[in-house]
Amino acid sequence: MSAGSEEDFTVTPWEVEGEVDYDRLIQEFGVQEIDQGIIERFGEPLHLYLKRRYFFSHRDLDRILDEYHQGRKFALATGRGPSGNMTIAHYIPLEFTRWMQERFDADVYIQLTSDEKFYVKQDLSFELAEEYARQNALDIAAVGLDPDKTFIFSNLEFTKIYRPAAKIAKHITFNTAKATFGESVLKNIGWSFFPAVQAAHLLLGNFVDGPTPMLVPMGIDQDSFLKIARDVAPKLGFPKPGAVHSRLLSGLLEIGGKMSASEPETAIFLSDTAEQVREKIWNAFTGGGATKREHRERGGEPDRCVVFQWLYTLFIDDDAEMERRAQSCRLGERFCGLCKEELTEDIIGFLEDHAERKRKAEGEISKYMYDGELARRAWENL
Ligand code: TRP
Repeated sequence: MSAGSEEDFTVTPWEVEGEVDYDRLIQEFGVQEIDQGIIERFGEPLHLYLKRRYFFSHRDLDRILDEYHQGRKFALATGRGPSGNMTIAHYIPLEFTRWMQERFDADVYIQLTSDEKFYVKQDLSFELAEEYARQNALDIAAVGLDPDKTFIFSNLEFTKIYRPAAKIAKHITFNTAKATFGESVLKNIGWSFFPAVQAAHLLLGNFVDGPTPMLVPMGIDQDSFLKIARDVAPKLGFPKPGAVHSRLLSGLLEIGGKMSASEPETAIFLSDTAEQVREKIWNAFTGGGATKREHRERGGEPDRCVVFQWLYTLFIDDDAEMERRAQSCRLGERFCGLCKEELTEDIIGFLEDHAERKRKAEGEISKYMYDGELARRAWENL
């Protein structure tokens, strides 16, 4: 579904344009806000991404948590379109999924949509899509999910996904696909069929273990796939899958847009060197005045600042500290250089840890993909 009736922004799985108004998205997509009442059902301590409402809306999260508290377990699904190296924005839903897995003892299904990227990207060869899927799988393994309770698969390799996809595809009319996803799915018939393959992922626990509530942490741009899966689920005797939606992390060069891997200067890649991070953060868009003098006289706008937003959402948990900073920025007392330096150091530290965990993950990858407990069940039961 595409939102933005006033045509000032667009959000679809394959296109995000303009400054996204999340309140309007909630209205137009017909999803629910993640409010304090729901947040409390997660228990303490809360993940920073929830506390900051980076995850801001949901479908059926209340139902799924209620059932969980009555003793019914759910499984998680999230995914990655392997069109290149991964950025920090791709890492966030995975880290959140890891946290949810630990808190709720949930199985996790992670789909790499090598087929989707092959259909959608004009210049991406079949072989390269497969290669990115292999590389991305290592970054995902580095997130630290439980290797016996996590199944990571790539559609062009785990071709058994075709079996549930076929069962689902039969229930999706061409008109529904067009109405839900727009004209882009008409560009080739691989693309037209693909929504059934992602819907198969969003319902996968049902096919592996019998009826299972599924919860999907996803960028709000992916919601159309969930809608389709929710339409089909009852027809197959499965509960409707729910979702928690994240915002789209601002790219470094403007507030409100989406970080894009195809515009490297807007993004921090998990593979960036310290030097690259320094340079990119130094050039980031801030809410500061154009000159030091202007900043001192008029003050800055932390609410319109990419650097402040990243620190606030991703790194610094201390509310009082962030409020003090925002105030002294508004008063023109705190300058951008300080915030930039801090963000640079935080990101470099994070990337170093990630690289270390990635080296270790190499030994675990076959568990995630083939012979861990959940992986075996999936290969056998589908
Ligand atoms: N289509 C997603 C992308 O291009 C990948 C994906 C597959 C996904 N299954 C998912 C994302 C489930 C979120 C949740 O990135």
